Formats: sequence, C-alpha cells, structure tokens
Amino acid sequence: MKNRPAIALALVAVSPLGISASAFAQTTVTATANGVDVKQGAITMRVAAISDSILRVRVAKGGVFAEDASWAVSPEARAHSVSAKSTVNGFSTAAMVVAIDPATMRLTVTDKAGKVITNDAIEPLMIQGKGFTLRKSMPQAEHYFGLGDKTGGLDRRGKSFVDWNTDAFGFSGSDDPIYKSIPFFIGVGGAGGSYGIFLDNTWRASFDFGHREENILSFGAPEGPIDYYVIAGPSTAEVVRRYTDLTGKAPLQAQWALGYQQSRYSYMSADETKQVAARLRSEKIPTDVMWLDIDFQDRNRPFTVNTKTFPDLKGMVSDLGKEGFKVVTITDLHVARAPNQGYRPYDEGMKGDRFVHNPDGSVYVAPVWPGPSVFPDFTQSSVRDWYGTLFQKQIDDGVAGAWNDMNEPAIFETPTKTMPLDIVHRIDSDGFAPRTGTHAELHNVYGMQNTRATYEGLRKLNPDERAFVMTRASYAGGQRYAVTWTGDNSATWDHLKLSVQQIINMGLSGFSYGAADVSGFAGGPSPDLLTRWFEIGAFYPVFRNHSAKGTPRVEPWVDGPEQLAVRRRFIEERYKLMPYLYGLAELNARSGDPILRPVFYDYPSAITMSCDQSMTFTLGKSLLVAPPPKPESPQAYDVCLPAGGWYDYWTGKRSGVAQADTEGQIQSASQATGGVKTKGDIVTETPRLDYLPVFVRAGTILPRQQVVQSTSEIPRGPLSLDVYPGDDCAGDLYADDGHSMAFQSGAFMRQTVRCQVTAKGVTLDFETPQGRFSPWWKQVAVTVHGWKGTNAVKSGDRTVASIGDANAQTVSFTIDTPMTATRVAIARR
Ligand code: NOJ
Repeated sequence: MKNRPAIALALVAVSPLGISASAFAQTTVTATANGVDVKQGAITMRVAAISDSILRVRVAKGGVFAEDASWAVSPEARAHSVSAKSTVNGFSTAAMVVAIDPATMRLTVTDKAGKVITNDAIEPLMIQGKGFTLRKSMPQAEHYFGLGDKTGGLDRRGKSFVDWNTDAFGFSGSDDPIYKSIPFFIGVGGAGGSYGIFLDNTWRASFDFGHREENILSFGAPEGPIDYYVIAGPSTAEVVRRYTDLTGKAPLQAQWALGYQQSRYSYMSADETKQVAARLRSEKIPTDVMWLDIDFQDRNRPFTVNTKTFPDLKGMVSDLGKEGFKVVTITDLHVARAPNQGYRPYDEGMKGDRFVHNPDGSVYVAPVWPGPSVFPDFTQSSVRDWYGTLFQKQIDDGVAGAWNDMNEPAIFETPTKTMPLDIVHRIDSDGFAPRTGTHAELHNVYGMQNTRATYEGLRKLNPDERAFVMTRASYAGGQRYAVTWTGDNSATWDHLKLSVQQIINMGLSGFSYGAADVSGFAGGPSPDLLTRWFEIGAFYPVFRNHSAKGTPRVEPWVDGPEQLAVRRRFIEERYKLMPYLYGLAELNARSGDPILRPVFYDYPSAITMSCDQSMTFTLGKSLLVAPPPKPESPQAYDVCLPAGGWYDYWTGKRSGVAQADTEGQIQSASQATGGVKTKGDIVTETPRLDYLPVFVRAGTILPRQQVVQSTSEIPRGPLSLDVYPGDDCAGDLYADDGHSMAFQSGAFMRQTVRCQVTAKGVTLDFETPQGRFSPWWKQVAVTVHGWKGTNAVKSGDRTVASIGDANAQTVSFTIDTPMTATRVAIARR
C-alpha cells in the first residue's frame, strides 16, 4: 500500500488572541487560563503552561484530543498550571514568552529577554495517516543529549533514532534501537540556554537531529497522541530537575546498592556462590552484593529455585548476610506455561486471566528461557498487584532485591525478537479508559510496568525497606521503580567508552542509577581492559561485574596479583567515597540531579571546550574523572578543566592553571603533580594503567571514610573532611540507616559545611545538623589542602591541635562533630 501524502500544516493566518477569526476564516486563537488554543479546521493545538518553565503542547487530530492519561507523567503533574498572560500572538509566563506566528502557525518559545529557546521549522507539523512528525529548527551551536541508553556517542546531533525496546545482545556502538525508550532529549548550547523536549508517546517514536534534513530537528510517531512538553532551563541542571518533576525522581536506594556487586551468568550453585564470596573476602575486595542469574531457578522458571544446586537458598542468603553480602536474584517477567504442575505463577495467572492475549482471545504463548511462556498483562493495575505478591517467597528467603531482565519483552525464535504487534493488552490503569491496546502501543512501556509491579510488590511485602529493582527495558518515568544497566555489552575498549556515554545520557534522561557490565558481557576482556573497566566502573552510579556463560571469568583476581592490586585499590576508593556518593544519591532523590554527569551539567562552558571530552564525566559537582578518550591508546591527551580551579584528587595539590593559593601567593603550574604538565587550564595526561586522572573542584568539602569490606560494616571513625578552598565552597554531610524508609520521617542527618578563604586563612562553618539520626561518626578529621605556612586552629573559642605538612601543603586536625552552628578558623599564626 502506498503511503498517503503528508499534509503540511503551514497555516496562512492566525487571528490575534481572543478575537474571533472573522478576518482569518480558517483559524481561531483562544486564550485559555494557562495558555492558548489554536484551531484550524479539525486540528486544535493546545499550548498550556503547566509551570513557568514547562509547556505542554497537545494537538487534537479530528477535533478530539487523545485521552489525558500517561504512563510517565502523574495526573497531579499534568494538572499543574500557572496563569498565563495573553500577548498579541501568544502568551507569557514568568520565565517564557510563547508566540505563534500568524503566517505559519509556528511556535516560538523565547526567554524573557527574547532569546530563542526553541522554535518550529517551516511546516511545523506533518500529519501522515495516523502518524505525525513535528519539525523544529536546529541552531548550529546546539548539541543534543538524553534519549536514555542509546548508542552513537554522547552527542545526538547529526543522528537519527527509533524508540523500540529491543533485546540487543552483542549490540555495536551504532546499533539502534536497543533496550530502552526514553523519548526525552535536551538541547544544549542554543541562544536561550538548555531546554528539553519530552514526547509522551509510547509508540515506535523516532527522533532525527539533522540527519535526514540539515538543520531540522524532527520527532514523531506512527500513531498515538501528539503530546509533548517543552522544558526551559536555562541550565541543563534545571531542565533535568524539571523533567524529573514531571516524570518522577528515582527513589533513594539502599546504601548497599552503591557498593561493589559481583555477578555472573551464572553462579551455578550455592557452593560456587559461596566460594566466590569467600574469595572476595579473603582477597579483601570490598563487596556488597552477590547476584544469582537464571540458573539458580528450576528449569529457568521465574519464582522457583533449583533445589538440587541451591538446596537451602534461605540458609545461603543468611550465611552470606553474616559476611556482609546481600543477594539479588533474577526474576524475568515471562511465566513458564506449565499447567497442572503446581506452578503458582502460571496457575494463578490463568485463573485470573492475567496474561496477554492473541487477537483471537487465546492466551499468547511464546518461547523464552523456560520454553513456552505466557506474559502478564502489566498494563492492568490488578495484574501488577498480583504479580507483586509472587515475591513473597524471595522476601521470606531474605533476598534483597530483584533483577527484571528480558522485559523488552524478549521473545526467542522470532526475527522481531519480541511479541507480534497485534497482541492484545487490556489497559486498566493510570487514568486510561479501560480499553484494549495493541502491543504496538504498549511495547515500550511493558518493561517499565513490569518493574513497577516488582517495585510496588516489594514495597508492600517489606514496607519498612527500600526496594531494589534492576531493569533492562524501560520508558520515561521508569526511574521511579528501577535502576538500570546497559544490557549485553561486549568486552571491548569501544564498549568501555560507550558505557560512559550511555550512563551520562541515561542520567540526563532521569535514570540516575546507571550501570554497565564491568568487563563486558560478551567476549572476554584483556587483563588491561578489565583493569581499566574496574577503574572507571568504580565511578559508575551502580558498580557491577557481570559476564556471559561460556566467556572467561572476570572476577577481580583473574589476571593475577598485580592486576588485582590495581582493581582492589579502585574498589576501595569507591568505598572511601561512600559518604560523598551516598550524599549524591540522596540529593538525586530530592532534585533529580544525576549522580554521574557530563561536565557541562555543572560547568556550562565545558560544552565548547577544546579537549576531547567523550570520556570525561563528573561525579556530582565536585569530582571530575578524565579517562583517556581513546581508552586503549598510550597517547598523551588533554583534559580541559573548567574555570574556577581544581585539585588533583590523588595528591591533593592544585592542578592545571597557576592559581592563587590560600596564602594569596601564586602557586606555580609546575607544582602540580602526578606527572602532569600544565598548559593553562588544560592538563596533559599520559595514560598509565594503574592511574586514572581525577580532579576535585576548588570549593569542595569532600566527606570520605575508611575502607570497609561492605557497607554493612561500620567504618572506623572519624569521618574525613577534605577541604579544597575555592569559590562557592561547601559540602553536605548526609547519613541515615542506609536501608529503611525511616529517613522519610526524619531519621536522617544532613549537615552543610561551608568554607571561606579569608585574609588570615580559611574558616569552616558547620551548620546545625538537620534530622534526628546519629551518624556513625562522632568526630571529623579535617584536612585543608593548598595550605602553606604556619597554622593555628580554633573551633569556637577553643584551640585545636593541628598538624601542618609543608610538603603535602595541608593542615589537618580532628574535632568532635559540631552539633550546633560552629565556626572553625584556620589561620596563619
Ligand atoms: C540477558 C541479560 O542481559 C544478561 O545480563 C543475563 O545474564 C542473561 N539474560 C541471562 O539471564
């Protein structure tokens, strides 16, 4: 069948707002309380300000808007509204001016100073049958990020993408689509600052960033609502925070989820699992989690246990628990078709008619790991509730979290790798009218609803504990339920690089807890690749070593003691950083700020810096991690450090450009250490396998702790506080019990510490802690970096003993944790 020609909506004239369209017979423009409705024939475009910086744009085809329901945006968020001020050709809010061009109906959004945030291209909307394409102009200076875990490098500019959750085993650095569909991107570098666009459409949507048409950014879908949000910044951080206001924040994970995690497809028996765990302890490799992949189950059937190889799962979990390990088990969403065998998921699912149907009404059956399988209809809230109850046994066995894999959903023995598009779901959820929907509509949300069922089930079964779920597939908003990883990557240097880019883009897409299989799932890494992967993985939000069946083993010790020593050192460093990392996780839960970020997130000028930043990232605002951009190459490379000053994380000394030190003297560039030569604020690094350049922003107060073997161990006190003087100098200390929900009712401790460079030295101001939780530390051991000369330290009126180290350029002292607002003055005598 031939496609029908596209109808281009380039309307000729629009009347001034609120005036009926006598002079412009085709078009009426009506002011609404929070925006404007523009009507032409059977088409209505509704632009509504749901906040001063967020617009929702909906287009009704055939005169009727699609139902106002969403898997991603809650009804409360959608109902949000601010009053708009009518203008002659649109409206304005406190932060934006919205104009609709009377000649073309193009939408232009500017900031209050008139700088363009985003504007439509000529022919802004093409409708083709049930499908549509929205077209926007694409300024030269703009770069694009987000869209979840998609490959193709960090910047989406010049590329084209499709949203279709796909089991992408062995994907390459340019394969698309892969596992997730997050139809949200951020434009960075344009005149009006960063902005985001979120197309809330679950169908097979596509995005094109000047690939098909030069300087045209377009996105659309073959069916479904024309419903998108424009999110103004101007900073990238504001866009991400607002996007996660709309689609939800990732909940604070248990602290153990930030520890090192050991997995393998599969540890085949309880004995093997315990042996690996024992070796991790005997080799003193800090570890929090052991993962069990499908082989722990009976014939790959979810919610079962192979009692021959795991005769006492509960006992094993309990024994490992005593050694400080949590156990996470896989639970794929498919249910084995196993009638009359006492297999509860199948029996109850059939009894309750809870599986998806073929168009003829029969239950859809297709092969996955257990053989012929059936598939819960997670688009029904009652099915999700039922599915959640199936985790009871795992909770009883002490299992700490669930791994939802294969939830694109993956189907074997079919070229499409998934369900036929006409499989029938019976939606009953989230304000959708109870109705059937095809898999073509629901495919991209199926995995997300699987994680929702799991997450909500775990929360109900164990209401006092945080629920840990890891997923492979998801949709916008899925961060509310699960952390995620990048699926079946490969043991290559390219994939190591890709992993950083994927995790950055996932973080910008709301999924702040990103992981990639350390070592690469498919194939086997060289010893050096594995070591480098451990080094970089130690800074991933979620740090898990995992590998496929039949591949060489990749536990930390596999290449001998020298490689192990480096790997261990980086794992240990992660545990030292745990107070900082956990603070970032807590901040993420409140703000949406990703844990791992592109440098331009906090340092907007980085977007135009000259260095190859394709592997550089920050962990929070304070740490900048700069692996070699060609990760396998021994060639020296430049790291651009954003303005403001940086310290070398490892030596504690000033890096890069010559800077005034705390004494007001100029510290020469040659004083930077670690084999680093400086050129202004560009640092040249020569790759060394045992070293990864990490920098600390001048103005950081960094909390760290002693190494522990797992987060269940109480660190030896005191808490270390490293002060790196500079502008805007502050740090947050955060603690709670690390696993329960009690932090939500006040059982936490948050304390802000600020520092200031004064004529005499440095002052540190501890604010009164908030919350009623007593952290494990009773004292803080402060080290002020970049210090020269003598020193005298006073906490309030009390003199505190301190030690100066001229060589390290530090002054150090320990004080009891201030419980009320306290000033500590570090002065030159
Ligand atoms: C596919 C997943 O991506 C992989 O991580 C897992 O090991 C296998 N399924 C087996 O469950």
